[in-house]
Amino acid sequence: FSLKAYNTFGVEAKTKYFAEVATTEELKEAINFSSSQSPKIPILFLGGGSNILFTKDFDGLAIKLNLKGISEEITGENEVLVTAKAGENWHSFVMYCLDKNYGGLENLSLIPGNVGTSPMQNIGAYGTEIKDIFVDCKVLDIENLELKTFNLEQCRFGYRDSIFKQEGKGKYVILEVTFRLTTKDHHIKTEYGAIKSELESLSIQEPTIQDISKAVVNIRQSKLPDPKEIGNAGSFFKNPTIPLAQFEELKEKFENIQGYPNGSFVKVPAGWLIEQSGWKGKQIGNVASHKLQALVIINATGNATGKEIFDFSTEIINSVKEKYGIELEREVNII
Ligand code: EPU
Repeated sequence: FSLKAYNTFGVEAKTKYFAEVATTEELKEAINFSSSQSPKIPILFLGGGSNILFTKDFDGLAIKLNLKGISEEITGENEVLVTAKAGENWHSFVMYCLDKNYGGLENLSLIPGNVGTSPMQNIGAYGTEIKDIFVDCKVLDIENLELKTFNLEQCRFGYRDSIFKQEGKGKYVILEVTFRLTTKDHHIKTEYGAIKSELESLSIQEPTIQDISKAVVNIRQSKLPDPKEIGNAGSFFKNPTIPLAQFEELKEKFENIQGYPNGSFVKVPAGWLIEQSGWKGKQIGNVASHKLQALVIINATGNATGKEIFDFSTEIINSVKEKYGIELEREVNII
């Protein structure tokens, strides 16, 4: 079964078995199928396929999570808890909340992927991360098929990180996520420079949450390629965090280097490092670094293989390492 339509890079990869599940019961059946074989068949869970790169075929059971539904409960003067099932498309969910004038998700507009994968890497953009509005998520333990709830603290969110990428890796399937949103006195977040300038160019002085969303959509559309048109998985690498002393040393040699200080560390934009290493817009074979955002690797011709994309990313890692002594880490999951 081809997974080409199930990954936003649009690369070809085959899976031995495939199942699409719409309920927890169907999900359990699929897991039971895999564990009843001997030897056990490995499982791969697929959400929106927007953060995954297949470099080879998958010799197991790929399970596409299609659990759908949104529910809500007003819990205070200015508070609503909204729960969405894993298979809901992230951006549609954000739009649903904005239609009801629920605030908190607007800065996260137009992020590809589904609700169920949002806690995995604590998705974030334009000054918000989901940890800011996250209440809890319900998961299925793959080993014993028991339901479990992880609250904010238990998820141990960090920058593009959570327990589901660490100790919990491969142990749970996220079934639904609950967010705490505002119903009237919204916290408007405009600190991110690009949002400020976009609002100015739209001549908006007192932005609503819907205006913020529009600004974010405009910014994203102006520099991030739409995976429906050009295969990609958003940022391919994480922004590296380096010790302040190392940053200061680099600053002597490269005076334009950018960095956001955070205690005794500095977060350096990977896009800048990649661009300065000569990769922005560069194409090798079917793969390129995006001409407007070097951090995004694209399937430029539509014919790239996962292996080609992976090798391209290795070359970027090597040249950034050689020039700056910083080792970029991939954000995308490599299969
Ligand atoms: N930059 C360059 N050249 C480039 C790209 C960026 O010099 O080609 C510089 C910019 O000038 C800017 C800095 O890098 O000063 C940061 O750029 P940008 O604001 O575009 O954000 P980013 O750090 O590249 C991160 C997230 C994005 C998120 C944006 C906005 C990561 C790995 N990526 O990108 O997330 O949308 O901030 O908040 O943290 C994603 O995870 O898939 C993603 C798109």
